Amino acid sequence: MDSDSVAMAELHGKMHKQETVCIFGTGDFGRSLGLRLLQSGYNVVYGSRDPKNSLLLPKGSKVMAHAAAAGEAHVIFVAVQREHYGFLSSLASDLEGKVLIDVSNNLRRGLYPESNAEYLSSLVPGVTVVKAFNTISAWALQSGGLDANRQVLICGDRADAKQQVVDIAQSLGFTVLDRGSIRAAAELEDLPLQLFPLWRLPFRIAICLTAFIFFYALTRDVIYERVTNGKDIAFRIMVSLANKVFPIVSLVMLSLCYLPGALAGFLQLYNGTKYRRFPDWLDRWMLCRKQLGLLALAFGFLHVLYTLVIPIRYYVRYRINVYTISLVKDNITYEFDNTAAWRYDSYYSMGILGFGLFVLLGITSLPSVSNSLNWREFSFVQSKLGYMTLLLCTFHTFLYGWDRFLKTSSYRWWMPQAYMLSLVVPCVVLILKLILIMPCVDRKVTRIRQGWERHSKT
Ligand code: HEM
Repeated sequence: MDSDSVAMAELHGKMHKQETVCIFGTGDFGRSLGLRLLQSGYNVVYGSRDPKNSLLLPKGSKVMAHAAAAGEAHVIFVAVQREHYGFLSSLASDLEGKVLIDVSNNLRRGLYPESNAEYLSSLVPGVTVVKAFNTISAWALQSGGLDANRQVLICGDRADAKQQVVDIAQSLGFTVLDRGSIRAAAELEDLPLQLFPLWRLPFRIAICLTAFIFFYALTRDVIYERVTNGKDIAFRIMVSLANKVFPIVSLVMLSLCYLPGALAGFLQLYNGTKYRRFPDWLDRWMLCRKQLGLLALAFGFLHVLYTLVIPIRYYVRYRINVYTISLVKDNITYEFDNTAAWRYDSYYSMGILGFGLFVLLGITSLPSVSNSLNWREFSFVQSKLGYMTLLLCTFHTFLYGWDRFLKTSSYRWWMPQAYMLSLVVPCVVLILKLILIMPCVDRKVTRIRQGWERHSKT
């Protein structure tokens, strides 16, 4: 036999060598895991308190008492709740030298002083505990990771034990991320309890901004009309007001994505070093910029959809008809206003270009796209094109407002039009950026970012 056929025969032998894996626990997770293991070519044996009454287990698996099941395999999944770990200490001699995979989670954080995996390790000292699969749901196991999270996070103290778990996870079709020693188990157990942690702050900002702008515009446009002229124009809430609130929130949130970066630049200039930590609030703000941007994009998208219906609105058609008829009645010629044509076309164009770049920013922030860009490309898109988007959308709003800020009718009850408020944060961000890119300032910031320190002795 030549060397190629020897290698093929070895490979063939490896593929058909059926390893046995034991699962303690016959609940949803244990059953889905067993089925997946069987489909991947493993023998599965369940350990149960009551083997005779353990029903609905996957076809092809065996079920026996815990001690007997433990004797069949080297690797054992512990798919029972931490409160029921007690029985494992009585199996200490049967489990000696085995690898136990702790897949458990808790109902809430801080329930126990130590992680479940560390507790298991202390309960059965002769075993090696590896924390894994706790971030994978029964559903992900059933779908083979095709339609759900495919990443298995693992941690443990012994490399050989972890490697065995890695092999199993990979043959089930999952990717593995090693998070280090068993001390990381508490963090892994907290992960499934988190509910969109990075989205919380952006959601709160979006809700507060939406509520504020809505009530501001409601007071200024609808309530003012009712109180001073007795006119009921509450119907405007549905489209006109919505189409004020959404773009304004979008613009402010877009600028809030870039404000922390600019503040960080000024802070580094002030400190004269990049090695001093930013305040916690700035750190947290920087971490959720992507989420802020994606929410801003969603609001911008709503604005575009609302804008599309403007020409078909009953109120708009009614106003156009009344105006046209009044021109005809009074025999007035509707003069073409070149400035107005420029203004309208320009603000539409700025809006469309801004929205186009905005969508591009959103697409490049998706992990599948951003992973294919190198750091320079990613920062070019997110920083340069990001500022360009902000600039275009700010111009779009300026051109929309045009000279309205000069007219006294724009200040009802001393309240300026909502779009004027929306321009404050973007203008601040753009001015800060303008200062930062001035050559004399930029040179200093770049040196600081390369490691130069104002107070260093060298
Ligand atoms: C206002 C069109 C994208 C921010 C408007 C208005 C129109 C319009 C027609 C006037 C609405 C009205 O009279 O009620 C468009 C088009 C876009 C676009 C066609 C892209 C396809 C954007 C984007 C932003 C934005 C991406 C912000 C990120 C604003 C703001 C106003 C406005 C703040 C003023 C709202 C108000 O106070 O009434 N836009 N826009 N627009 N737009 Fe856009």
